[in-house]
Amino acid sequence: MDSHTILYGVIGDPIRHSRSPVMLGRAFQESGVNGAYGAFHVTPERLGDAIRGIRALGFRGLNVTIPHKIEVMAYLDEIDESAKAIGAVNTIVNDGGRLTGFNTDGIGYVRSLKEEAEPDLSGKRIVVLGAGGAARGIVWALLRESPAEVLIANRTDARADELATAFESGGRLKSVPWHLLTEACGAADIVINTTSVGMSPQTEAVPADPSWLRPGAVASDLIYNPLTTAFLHGAERRGCRIHGGLGMFVYQGAYAFEYWTGRPAPAAAMREAVLASFS
Ligand code: ATR
Repeated sequence: MDSHTILYGVIGDPIRHSRSPVMLGRAFQESGVNGAYGAFHVTPERLGDAIRGIRALGFRGLNVTIPHKIEVMAYLDEIDESAKAIGAVNTIVNDGGRLTGFNTDGIGYVRSLKEEAEPDLSGKRIVVLGAGGAARGIVWALLRESPAEVLIANRTDARADELATAFESGGRLKSVPWHLLTEACGAADIVINTTSVGMSPQTEAVPADPSWLRPGAVASDLIYNPLTTAFLHGAERRGCRIHGGLGMFVYQGAYAFEYWTGRPAPAAAMREAVLASFS
């Protein structure tokens, strides 16, 4: 660090569990960028002060995590199309005092799915389990980045119905009642868990029975703690290909890095840094 070091960080409440500093720190080091990335504990009542602070201090970029992804939009100058559609910001770019909010979660997920599990999504039948904030970002990105057909199933059917009408899809986006999930999973090429079911410490729980999946299909889980969930373990035993949530975390950070620096992100080194932080 010296007097030219460019500042970055992540804000959230809580924040000490965040692996973003380890991951982005490695990205700067690996790319030879003179940047420093910190984790900042910002409570909801201090959010406005924090954003004024990054303007005043000339931070180049910020990641935003729970619980600020929605409220932070009120403090920005511009909201990119991705964040507008999803209704949440996870990345801020500061261009000479003008702050723009982006959402890289959904596109980060799709990049990871294509790189790590299924390069060609055309015509694929995808079932998304869950209809919360995470599902919204992923569904938007799946529709935009691929010619896939997406079915949303949620424990509370009304939320699935609502999300299924949120985006213009040319008929590629539909909801399926939760009680018909068995059949929907059996016909799917890819089943994605966006719910919190299976997250540590409830690691035995599954959002859908893996035996419903077709052998050879892709089972994907957004959860990365644990790195492999009970849903993925079951799906692997069933003969499915499995895709964990770490890649989404890596690529949402990779996109942020690319927006901030204009350089390709060293994704492999970033993943390695996060993995090392687990051991
Ligand atoms: P996030 O932003 O992480 O998506 P969220 O908006 O609170 O969080 O959404 C959580 C999702 O997990 C919802 O789809 C929720 O289903 P409901 O809409 O029915 O609440 C789903 N979920 C949470 N616990 C669940 C459980 N035990 N079984 C099935 N789905 C569950």
